Amino acid sequence: MLIRRFRNQHAVLLAIVVIGTICMVLFMSPQPLRQETEYPLDEWVRTPTIDCHGHFRAYGHEFAWLQYSHILSNTTFSVPCDSKVPAYNFRYSIEGPLQMWMGNLMPYPTTYITDQDSNYVTAPTFVIKRIEAHNLYHTLCEWMNVFLVSKVMKLNASLVDIVWMDDRPPSPLDDTWTVLFDNVYIYKTDENLVYKNLIWNIIGYNSPINFHNLPAAPYFEDFRDFFLKAYGVSDEKRLDCNKLKITVILRKDYMTHPERKDLFNGLVHRKFKNEDEIVDNVKSVFTQATVETVILEQMSMFDQLKVMTQTDVLIGMHGAGMSHVMFLPAHAVVFEIFPQYWGFLRHFKAFARWRGVKYFGSKNEDLKNEFDGFYTYIPSSVVREHCQKILKWRCMW
Ligand SMILES: *[C@@H]1O[C@H](CO)[C@@H](O)[C@H](O)[C@H]1NC(C)=O
Ligand SMILES: *[C@@H]1O[C@H](CO)[C@@H](O)[C@H](O)[C@H]1NC(C)=O
Repeated sequence: MLIRRFRNQHAVLLAIVVIGTICMVLFMSPQPLRQETEYPLDEWVRTPTIDCHGHFRAYGHEFAWLQYSHILSNTTFSVPCDSKVPAYNFRYSIEGPLQMWMGNLMPYPTTYITDQDSNYVTAPTFVIKRIEAHNLYHTLCEWMNVFLVSKVMKLNASLVDIVWMDDRPPSPLDDTWTVLFDNVYIYKTDENLVYKNLIWNIIGYNSPINFHNLPAAPYFEDFRDFFLKAYGVSDEKRLDCNKLKITVILRKDYMTHPERKDLFNGLVHRKFKNEDEIVDNVKSVFTQATVETVILEQMSMFDQLKVMTQTDVLIGMHGAGMSHVMFLPAHAVVFEIFPQYWGFLRHFKAFARWRGVKYFGSKNEDLKNEFDGFYTYIPSSVVREHCQKILKWRCMW
C-alpha cells in the first residue's frame, strides 16, 4: 500500500518532470524553420475577413487594412466600429506584433468619422515594427512585403507611406526606405491624425523570400525591377567571358547596432582570414577578369547596386550582404562559403534559384582552418576548384 502510493507519487512526479521538460523545450526552441512550399497571396486577397462596416479587412491571417484608424500608442490602434472589434488571429506569436495590435484594437463610433478637426492622412500607410532593422537581409524581407502587398492591393508602392512602430537607432539602411517609398517616419500618437488607409503589414519573417522551399517567390523579378528603378540603376550587363567582373564581399568587425556590444564582444562572425590570398587565387583562375573586393557597410546602397548589377561572379561568406544575389545579372554565378561553426543556410541558395543564377556553396569542415575572432582560412585548393567550376560553367563550352 505504502509502496504503491510511493510509486504513484513517483509516477506523478515523473510525469510533471517529463511534461515540464517538453514544455521548456517547446518554449525555448527557436522559431521552427519554415517549410512552406506555397504562398497563396492571391487567395488571401480574394477571401478577406471583413468587419466593422468594411473598416477592418484582414487577409490570410497575415496582414490587415484599417480605414479611418488612429494610432493611440506604440501598441494601440483604433478603428470605427459600432460593435465590438472582431476576433481575428494572425499567424504570428511573439515574433510579430499583429496579434498584440489585434488584442489592443479599440473601437470608436462610426459617427466620429466626419470629425471636422481631424487631420486625414490619405496616402496608404504601412505600419511596420521592423525586425533586425540594421540587417540587409531582414530589411529586404520588409521592403519586399511592402512591395508585395502594394502590388496585390493595387497600390503604387512608390507612393505609399511607411510608419515605423519602433524606435530603433538610425541605420545606414534607413535611407533606402525613403528611396523606395514615399514618406517614412516613426509613429506619432497624435489624437487628431486619422489614417484613411492603414495597413498592418506582413512581418519580415513571413516574407516569401524568407521561405527557402518555395519553388518561386511571387513578384521576385518585379520587386527587383522596382528596387533598381527607384535607384535609377540600369540592368543591362551582358556576359562577356573576356571581361568578367568578379566581386568578393569582405566582412569586417563593425557596430551594426548598439546591442552588438553585448554579443561576442561586438565581433562579426564569418570573416576571411586570408583575404589577399583568396583574391590571388581567384585571379590565378580568372586571368581575364577584373576582381574587386567590397566592404558593403562602407558603400551607399546606390554604389552597392551599381557594383552588383555589373558582377558576373559573386564570392563571399554567408551573411546578409549575400542578399545582393537578388541584384546580379541573370547569367551570374554565386560562390558562398560557410565556416565550420555555422549551418549551411539556404537563404541565398534560394535567392539564386528564384533569380535563375548558378549557385555553388562550400562549408569548411576542418577545425584547423578556424581562428580566434571568427576568422576562417580558406585553402587555395577550395578557392581554385570552385573558380574552375564556375569558369567551366559559364565560359567554356
Ligand atoms: C512602447 O513604448 C514604451 C515607452 O514609451 C516602451 O517601454 C515599450 O517597450 C514600447 N513597446 C513596444 C512594443 O515597442
Ligand atoms: C508609381 O508612381 C511613380 C511616382 O509617381 C511613377 O513614376 C510610376 O509611374 C507609378 N507607377 C505606376 C505603375 O503607375
